[in-house]
Amino acid sequence: MTRTLLRGTGSALPGTVVSNHELAARVDTSDEWIVERTGIRQRYIAGEGETTATLATEAARNALADAGMDASEIDLIVLATATPDNTFPATATKVQQALGCNGCIAFDVAAVCSGFLYAIATADSMLKTGMGQKALVIGAETFSRILDWEDRTTCVLFGDGAGAVVLELDADAAAGPDTPGIIATRLHADGAQHDLLYVDGGPSTTQTVGHLRMKGREVFRHAVVNLASVLHEVIDDAGISAEQIDWVVPHQANKRILDATARKLRIPAEKVIVTVDQHANTSAASVPLALDTARRDGRIKAGDLVMLEAMGGGFTWGASLIRM
Ligand code: UT7
Repeated sequence: MTRTLLRGTGSALPGTVVSNHELAARVDTSDEWIVERTGIRQRYIAGEGETTATLATEAARNALADAGMDASEIDLIVLATATPDNTFPATATKVQQALGCNGCIAFDVAAVCSGFLYAIATADSMLKTGMGQKALVIGAETFSRILDWEDRTTCVLFGDGAGAVVLELDADAAAGPDTPGIIATRLHADGAQHDLLYVDGGPSTTQTVGHLRMKGREVFRHAVVNLASVLHEVIDDAGISAEQIDWVVPHQANKRILDATARKLRIPAEKVIVTVDQHANTSAASVPLALDTARRDGRIKAGDLVMLEAMGGGFTWGASLIRM
């Protein structure tokens, strides 16, 4: 059978770190409130010359180096973002140009915080249906550029960054959860929840970029229910039990969501990768950033069974089980 292998990971962060204390000097908030309610201690914010495309390109280069591959080998670039450099063309084509692999397939996927899961599923399917052998899948965001910096209920929660993985098709893999590669993926969306998390602008409505708006408490409630449900689906599809999972790499929105979801699945907290304290919520970048962080610090190793999961605006949500 065919299976898509994860061959390398990489990430990139902007040069500027902003602490909770610095934010407390700008809006009516405090380090105590932010840490207690979210687990966030700091976030990285893009400066002049840093964009979604520049961060994505750096993450992609790091992932290619990790995989020991040259950009010219890549057949497909799928970039998940809700903060593209321009309305069009796709930011993926700017990354392609910067990497010097013009000619391959390159496009963006818009599923906000679940974007990386949607992008992984898209690339996995395209490789398995003969569209190429090797893919770059990137999650990259500059959410700082769509925040209302006077709204304390949202501006303290987000940060900028990028993460990337290199995928390669294995056309002759053995079936089952012990074989390396992407084992099972499930995606969902529910457009009825639009008003709980959205941006109040866009080219076809206001002709502006707009600002992020969120009813945080309601999003929190839906997140725990939806994530637990999709995780059970993927566990069932893969024919494994939750105890067999070595690591969960969740979307880094709020430490309390991570803890509540893990409790629902009876997965011990030590198996959950947490980077929200350092990076805050980087939307589509958060899962690949956390994955790369945990691979580089030696926690996630070859052969480990890793569950990726995310939930975000739309709503959209999904999970993917990968044997490293
Ligand atoms: O990535 C996409 C998915 N997004 C998420 O998953 C986010 C999900 N939601 C959350 O993470 C949490 O709901 C928040 C962190 C956004 C908020 O935490 P909460 O415990 O749900 O707080 P809350 O919204 O119920 O607000 C509690 C209080 C309110 O004051 P009152 O009405 O009780 O007087 C807020 O006005 O905290 C106040 N508050 C703040 N206080 C200080 C809200 N934001 C702040 C702030 N600093 N930054």
